[in-house]
Amino acid sequence: MRIIEAIDYEHMSSLAARYLIEKISTNPELILGLATGGTPEGTYKRLIEDHRTNGTSYKDITTYNLDEYVGFSSDNPNSYHAFMYENLFSELDIQDTNVHLPNGVAIDLVEECKAYEELIEETGGIDIQLLGMGSNGHIGFNEPGTSFEANTHLVELTQSTREANARFFKAIDDVPREAITMGIATIMRSKEILLLVSGETKRNALKELLNGDVRESFPASVLNRHPNVTIIADQKAL
Ligand code: GLP
Repeated sequence: MRIIEAIDYEHMSSLAARYLIEKISTNPELILGLATGGTPEGTYKRLIEDHRTNGTSYKDITTYNLDEYVGFSSDNPNSYHAFMYENLFSELDIQDTNVHLPNGVAIDLVEECKAYEELIEETGGIDIQLLGMGSNGHIGFNEPGTSFEANTHLVELTQSTREANARFFKAIDDVPREAITMGIATIMRSKEILLLVSGETKRNALKELLNGDVRESFPASVLNRHPNVTIIADQKAL
């Protein structure tokens, strides 16, 4: 694992954006795994700025997001689908047909998980997966205890994750209880992983990831087994 130290959130975001832009410039048909949450927002802002000023093109990029809330359709403003359009896609020249998120309102959610997994495989697998991390070590929505063998699957969100994400909602009761997420095995099949970690609330989780044992009770620890992981963390998290 390679660790890049950033001064603060803004610096982490700049470094992450630069990292991704370089990959996109080298491979304009990159298959990019994306994440939601507060952590990558700054990175997305910089990707948009760069697209405006330097014209980096996304027209042949394919994206797969990590997860989506169950019961939220793409037009629900709290869906991850809406988040991605609001924070990134609507400002880029990416083609809608190349954008993929799990469908949280699929009639058969189990079938949807299978189909999402197959689609990723058919496209050729994810070249680089951007990740944030929950303070309990979750990646995507893979909560502590999730099997490392899991592919895209349905999950029940823990109370702590719902509380952490409540800031995006009017009330905690509005936070969904279930989600579809790429599994740990899905994430681990990405050729490369870029993990962003910012702020004091992630400090213990980062310490655990770097120094603790690899175990299912701390999902992010699995990244120690991946051959190509880069972590960009700011000083408050380190
Ligand atoms: C959410 C998302 C994850 C994200 C994590 C951290 O639950 N499903 O993909 O990485 O929580 O969120 P944040 O970046 O807002 O701290």
